[in-house]
Amino acid sequence: MPQRIGILTSGGDAPGMNAAIRAATLVGRSQGAEMFGVERGYRGLLDDTIAPLMPADVARILREGGTILGSARCKEFHQREVRDRARANLARRGIDGLIVIGGNGSLTGAMKLTDPEELGDQPLAIAGVPASIDNDLALTGLAIGVDTAMNTIVEACDKIADTATAHDRTFIVEVMGRDCGYLAMTSAIAVGADLALFPEAGRSEAAIVEQIVDTVVTVRSRPGRTRKVIVVKAEGVTFAIDRLKAQVDARLRDKLPDAEASGIETRVTVLGHVVRGGRPSAFDRLLGSRLANVAVRAVMGGITGKMAAWLPPVELAPEIAVRCAADPYCWLVDLGAVLAETENLLQGKSPLARWRAGAFDEIEHALLL
Ligand code: F6P
Repeated sequence: MPQRIGILTSGGDAPGMNAAIRAATLVGRSQGAEMFGVERGYRGLLDDTIAPLMPADVARILREGGTILGSARCKEFHQREVRDRARANLARRGIDGLIVIGGNGSLTGAMKLTDPEELGDQPLAIAGVPASIDNDLALTGLAIGVDTAMNTIVEACDKIADTATAHDRTFIVEVMGRDCGYLAMTSAIAVGADLALFPEAGRSEAAIVEQIVDTVVTVRSRPGRTRKVIVVKAEGVTFAIDRLKAQVDARLRDKLPDAEASGIETRVTVLGHVVRGGRPSAFDRLLGSRLANVAVRAVMGGITGKMAAWLPPVELAPEIAVRCAADPYCWLVDLGAVLAETENLLQGKSPLARWRAGAFDEIEHALLL
């Protein structure tokens, strides 16, 4: 079973990665493993920049954004001989376990690194921890960093809404997310935006312009003072934002009455990397800690090639609950069952209550003491 375990963070950094590094380090050590930090993702495996991780190294990192280990995108890792070099460096140091904290590309690298055909008889167990503000990984409800990124977007849009209201303006706010519209969609809901543009909708450029123009015309025709419009655009919608603005303004001048059209000037804000930084939210700290706890225990148990995932417990009996057709994350649960189970929970009798108490005892040992 692995006893010398490396941790690396790779790809775009995500707030909460440090919580995962800290938890993996402390839990691994509490279970008797030696823990190592690999600098700058897979780059560090190649350059052999690997150093022991001690509790003191992770003592003050929980509240910091980014990653203390650094991160990188390592294109060469697609080549077999490059991966062989990385495995050789790990073997030379006797590192037989690896926790890879990152997104899609990083977990692809992890899978290749642990491919049994390439690995031969080298002992190496690897677990992935999903971390990417984009939330573009399947089979986990959330990845580390998403919650903080959403909060950042909401805070920015709330500020933009103040000035948009004061000037009766339309703002198009572009947010990160690569090819995935999750951040744009969810933050649009949280912000109360008038429109969200996301690549999954598959709309043509002309249709997008019409959508925005229709929204602006509708908002401006409503009675009342508010004429501001907030459009949240995912970066995955590959319509350059300045060109989009120019086309929207031109079309609005055609569509609105003359008196209004002369005053029309859409503004754009690209939030860019601001969305990726900042102090991790409480939820991202918790998520990072809990996923890393599971990942390091899996590796120490000799389990390899898995990703720790965040999925709500979904074993609900059909007599008391039905899954909503409209939203796969939601269930409709019998109220009587809710109240009875709540009573059990509060009295410490339900399996969940017992699990919570036991888990907290363990966590207290590994992370809090
Ligand atoms: O995957 C995270 C992410 O922030 C994406 O949202 C974005 O498209 C990309 O990384 C930006 O990457 P880079 O920092 O390398 O420009």
